[in-house]
Amino acid sequence: MPIHCKRPVKLLALGLLCGIVPKVIAVTVTGSPHDLSASAGGDACAFCHTPHVTSRSVLWDQTLSPTVYKIYASSSLDAVVGQPTGSSKMCLSCHDGTVASGFTGTLRPGGAFVGPGEANLGTDLSDDHPISFAYTDALVAKDPQLRPASTLPETLKLDGDNELQCTTCHDAHDNQFGDFLTMSNQRSRMCVSCHTMQGWSVSSHRHDSASVMGSHNRLLADGPHQTVGDLACMACHKVHSAGGPERLLHFEQSEETCFSCHDGTVGTSDIKAELIKPSRHDVVAFRNNHDLRESPLAMSRHVECSDCHNPHAVQKQDAQAPLIQGAMRHVTGITSSGGVTPQARFEYEVCFKCHADNPSRIGSDITRVVTQTNTRLEFDPSAHSFHPVVGPGVSKNVPSLRAGLSVASVIYCTDCHSSEEGSATRGPHGSIYRPLLKHHYETSDFTSESEFAYALCYSCHSRNSILSDESFPTHRLHLDQRIPCSACHDAHGISSAQGSRNNHTHLINFDTSIVSRDPGTDRLEFVDMGVFQGMCYMSCHGTQHSGQVY
Ligand code: HEC
Ligand code: HEC
Ligand code: HEC
Ligand code: HEC
Ligand code: HEC
Ligand code: HEC
Ligand code: HEC
Ligand code: HEC
Ligand code: HEC
Ligand code: HEC
Ligand code: HEC
Repeated sequence: MPIHCKRPVKLLALGLLCGIVPKVIAVTVTGSPHDLSASAGGDACAFCHTPHVTSRSVLWDQTLSPTVYKIYASSSLDAVVGQPTGSSKMCLSCHDGTVASGFTGTLRPGGAFVGPGEANLGTDLSDDHPISFAYTDALVAKDPQLRPASTLPETLKLDGDNELQCTTCHDAHDNQFGDFLTMSNQRSRMCVSCHTMQGWSVSSHRHDSASVMGSHNRLLADGPHQTVGDLACMACHKVHSAGGPERLLHFEQSEETCFSCHDGTVGTSDIKAELIKPSRHDVVAFRNNHDLRESPLAMSRHVECSDCHNPHAVQKQDAQAPLIQGAMRHVTGITSSGGVTPQARFEYEVCFKCHADNPSRIGSDITRVVTQTNTRLEFDPSAHSFHPVVGPGVSKNVPSLRAGLSVASVIYCTDCHSSEEGSATRGPHGSIYRPLLKHHYETSDFTSESEFAYALCYSCHSRNSILSDESFPTHRLHLDQRIPCSACHDAHGISSAQGSRNNHTHLINFDTSIVSRDPGTDRLEFVDMGVFQGMCYMSCHGTQHSGQVY
């Protein structure tokens, strides 16, 4: 391990720069990829340094590149990054591949130029870790996921202007950790010396010991790391020549980075297979419309893995509705009152980003008396009636509820919307049942009642109870008439701003493609008259109700 002198004193000859140090450096440069000489024992310093006095700092010999570089940029970058400065310019004098070595002695084959390949960063540095910017307390104040510069390990040195340079992470003279790194990056120790990503300490991506040898991503399968935990940050990020420049990801298409493992080759679940099912959150069809800094209230219609997952914070942890599950920790959301939260506490807050106030939300296939596609209003605890997602429901009489559920229960959106029952994968990625339902649910008119037809409802409400008319005395009669549940019931809720409480209790919100106005009174209405009592005005399957009471 070389001993470094603190600041090079510009003396006459390099050998005198700082006493004993050059000797130690000589040993580590010789034979390393930075020893460009044709044979061992040549002058391992002269490719970069001149032994004579020069006006350049550190007695630099290689011609500096006049290139104007394309620099790193991203919407989440707080640092002010400009053109390369200081020692980075020295590295780039060879590593941008534009300048041939000015060394006059005999070079090893290929030593004259950094030719095409990994070591050639090119003149486009937008796919490389940002360099040549001040890493100061002011920067850390803007980005709480950075450690204070004063706490960096001694091996990670900023330059005299507090700038982070190539030489913060690399030492051109010392290859003991490989890639001339200034410290080992095993399990991303180097990255986490500066970055402290929220949720990382407990993340599955930090700890999982699954082998990456089967990945189709060659960078993982053929790389130096064996497991997900060994790769750590490098499972998704690439510090140089990244496929997805913004935020230095392996691939241009954000989900491709995740599919390196989540296609059944490394992770236990095959998310890729979920995403070809008939009903899905089609992250593949949306091409990188997600942005880390987007406003959940105004973003364009899209959905990507990172909209629902923070890859730094995912963990295996079960929670109870409505609390957010481990897989969705540290993700932004919209609260039940419509405000933005940087960190969703409840699962529905993540869904509300796209299925509530956002004008780009999707519509419904069913036309109803009361039309509403803002799920925040549908599930609001002040709504006329609603399935208990945000809080317990309004009804005290729900005799059909199956064991384990009561009128005090709270359920998840994903208790209804997720991969179909029987799939090995949890979560609302894809389902064979529309719209992304966990169980089959028939909404077309003239459906014959069966366990399968309304399996979704029967997963929580006893079929036996419904068919034996424990609440609505003519449930069975209507079902025998092949009228679907959805002709009368809305699966979400009826917002308090629409209709009236009297008319929309018990999730009653008729499907107007099946149910029409009573021609006698011109009314299309349900009237609540107390526990298990009510009245209807309407026409359906050729039958008229003009104030029919039950
Ligand atoms: C591949 C290019 C390269 C080679 C080869 C090289 N150096 Fe350096 N050297 C640098 C760069 C770049 C710096 C400036 C580092 C900085 O500013 O942080 C430097 C700085 C130095 C310094 C100043 C102290 C320091 O570490 O910052 C000394 C001393 C030094 N080199 C000695 C040598 C000796 C002796 C050899 C030959 C055994 C050698 N170098 C070979 C690139 C090289
Ligand atoms: C005089 C030209 C020259 C300069 C200056 C130079 N390098 Fe290199 N560097 C090379 C060559 C040539 C290679 C070998 C490339 C190859 O094997 O394809 C190399 C290889 C590397 C490697 C890869 C090591 C490996 O194991 O493959 C790293 C990392 C590196 N250099 C970093 C730096 C950094 C950081 C600086 C500035 C401090 C720097 N280099 C300055 C010429 C230079
Ligand atoms: C934030 C730390 C960091 C900075 C800054 C940095 N590098 Fe690297 N560099 C790395 C790491 C880590 C690797 C090893 C890559 C890996 O394991 O995939 C690496 C690898 C390399 C390689 C080997 C080829 C490759 O792509 O793997 C070269 C060459 C290189 N760096 C040159 C540079 C140059 C030149 C600069 C400045 C323009 C620079 N690095 C800035 C961390 C850094
Ligand atoms: C010496 C400190 C240091 C080290 C080591 C370091 N980084 Fe950084 N990195 C920074 C700083 C500072 C920024 C700028 C952050 C900002 O402006 O928000 C940054 C920026 C980034 C960005 C771009 C962030 C954005 O919002 O666009 C990524 C991605 C990144 N680093 C990943 C890594 C990875 C992966 C490693 C390990 C190979 C690593 N960094 C090592 C200090 C470091
Ligand atoms: C499982 C994949 C994955 C792993 C592992 C991972 N990242 Fe990321 N990282 C991402 C993705 C994807 C984004 C962009 C997120 C988005 O667009 O919402 C990102 C964004 C970032 C950013 C910029 C965003 C910000 O919040 O400021 C930094 C910095 C970063 N990662 C550093 C790291 C570091 C350091 C590690 C290791 C401790 C790491 N990442 C591990 C996938 C990963
Ligand atoms: C290097 C492989 C790898 C990559 C790349 C990767 N993951 Fe993972 N991920 C895993 C492993 C292993 C687990 C542990 C659970 C399992 O085996 O599926 C996991 C777990 C998860 C979990 C669930 C948490 C848990 O432990 O149950 C989520 C969510 C997740 N990853 C999302 C992502 C996203 C989003 C990306 C892309 C930004 C991504 N992953 C990239 C390997 C990876
Ligand atoms: C970042 C935006 C976003 C988030 C967050 C989101 N969705 Fe979606 N969702 C969409 C988009 C866009 C579609 C339209 C389908 C498509 O084109 O991929 C959709 C479609 C759906 C569908 C209908 C599928 C079909 O086949 O018609 C359901 C059901 C759904 N989402 C439920 C949820 C649930 C439950 C959550 C929360 C766990 C959620 N969504 C979170 C954007 C989102
Ligand atoms: C009790 C089961 C259930 C719960 C809980 C539930 N949904 Fe649905 N959802 C359905 C059914 C059934 C449909 C389709 C039939 C219909 O609209 O009546 C549907 C339709 C949708 C659609 C398609 C468009 C639309 O409005 O019809 C979206 C988007 C959606 N739900 C999102 C959500 C979100 C977000 C949550 C949680 C905040 C949620 N759902 C909770 C059962 C449920
Ligand atoms: C609309 C939101 C949403 C999107 C988009 C989404 N997920 Fe998920 N994901 C979830 C939810 C919710 C869970 C289940 C949480 C639970 O029940 O514990 C989950 C679970 C997972 C799991 C764990 C599966 C298991 O069986 O334990 C992995 C891995 C995962 N997601 C990866 C991904 C990847 C990779 C992508 C992009 C290709 C993605 N997710 C897109 C919401 C989403
Ligand atoms: C994940 C479990 C679950 C599923 C699936 C489910 N429900 Fe419910 N449902 C409940 C719970 C819990 C309540 C009690 C809420 C209350 O007390 O207001 C309830 C209440 C109801 C009520 C009474 C509401 C009131 O205010 O009187 C109706 C009607 C209803 N569900 C119909 C359905 C229909 C139709 C389906 C199928 C589309 C369905 N449910 C699917 C859990 C579920
Ligand atoms: C013709 C209209 C209609 C159809 C079709 C219908 N319901 Fe109902 N349902 C009602 C009415 C009206 C009530 C309210 C009874 C009361 O409390 O006054 C009700 C109440 C309920 C309740 C709450 C009380 C309880 O029994 O726990 C549930 C749950 C329910 N229905 C589920 C279903 C399911 C599941 C289907 C389809 C298999 C269905 N309903 C089909 C009209 C209908």
